[in-house]
Parts: sequence; structure tokens; C-alpha cells
Amino acid sequence: MYVCVCRAVTEQHIREAVQDGARTLKDLCLNLGIIRDCGRCARCAYECLQDARGGTRPGHGKR
Ligand code: FES
Repeated sequence: MYVCVCRAVTEQHIREAVQDGARTLKDLCLNLGIIRDCGRCARCAYECLQDARGGTRPGHGKR
């Protein structure tokens, strides 16, 4: 499913970005360019971010 239509970003792109270290909407904005145009994807992107962070524990070695 497309999360950001303006930038053709899907849930899969967000999951991959999270696996690569994205932790916030700002990270996703910088990495994928979402929210920069119309901004309508912000809520959905946030939900996908939370889902991706909860579903994949990258094991960052955080203390
Ligand atoms: S849908 Fe993401 S900026 Fe428009």
C-alpha cells in the first residue's frame, strides 16, 4: 500500500528505512522525502513507523 502518493513510498519502503536505522518521522522525511509535498501522508507514515518499529527489533545494541 502506498503511504506517500506524492513520492510513491510504500509501507515496505518505510520498513526498510526503519531496518536501516530510521526512528522518527523526520528520519523518514530525510530518507524517503515523505511529508514534503502535500503532507497528507504524515499520519499514515507515523502509524507505519510505529508498526515497523514494533514489528522489527533491529537489535541496535542500545544500552
Ligand atoms: S502524500 Fe506524502 S507528501 Fe503528499
